[in-house]
Amino acid sequence: MTAASGGLRLVFVGPPGAGKGTQAKFICERFGIPQISTGDMLRLAKTEGRLPQELVEAMAKGALVPDEVVVGLIADRTQLPDTAKGFLLDGFPRTGPQAESLGSMLTARSLKLDVVVALDVPRELLVERAVLRRTDKRTGQIYHLKYNPPPPDADLEHRADDKEEVVHKRLSTYEQMTAELLPYYEKLGVLRRVNGVGSVEEVKVRISDALSRTTA
Ligand code: AP5
Repeated sequence: MTAASGGLRLVFVGPPGAGKGTQAKFICERFGIPQISTGDMLRLAKTEGRLPQELVEAMAKGALVPDEVVVGLIADRTQLPDTAKGFLLDGFPRTGPQAESLGSMLTARSLKLDVVVALDVPRELLVERAVLRRTDKRTGQIYHLKYNPPPPDADLEHRADDKEEVVHKRLSTYEQMTAELLPYYEKLGVLRRVNGVGSVEEVKVRISDALSRTTA
């Protein structure tokens, strides 16, 4: 199914700090689909005191939470009415078993994944992007102290896992656990790799080109 025929189901893959959250907002606006971020869902559960302590600690250390936790979150979230026209999954799946669970979930609902966008950014840029990231607590808007400075009245938050040593750990976790997804989706013929180096606007145009080949 394509956007033209009424639905777009898209996965965003990329290392920590690649720009998934930043670019997801543009795509979701364009296609009228919700951005579903397992990281945001887990952080909200933590803020509301619903996240078990061992998962709070795993996230703070830069480790993944167990597959069954995020698979459960996605199984529920992708059935809400706002997903009727599709959805963008940001940060899920992250492991082979999560990808297989997603595939089975969609097949059971007679749906399929349309496209997987992978953002490629070299490690040295990722550390700087993550460490200098700030998010406005009230609006969820993502800023960068150097590349996209926040306005003076923003209520800024610095993520606990954006400390430099934790970012390095998250990058290693990504390389070990998530890199296996790229060959998996390449084999399925849905992978589109996009160069994530350049301004937010330049990357946005590249993603748009990659999607227009999928959704035309
Ligand atoms: P999650 O929240 O998913 O974090 P992540 O994947 O590490 O990705 P980030 O949010 O760090 O980066 P991003 O690519 O969205 O970059 P952004 O657009 O903000 O996961 C957090 C944790 O939750 C995990 O470590 C794990 O513990 C747990 N978790 C989540 N999902 C899980 C799953 N499926 N399984 C198990 N555990 C899971 O951009 C970064 C910065 O760069 C910003 O400041 C931005 O302004 C700036 N920027 C963006 N684009 C550009 C550009 N082109 N040029 C310059 N600066 C830019």
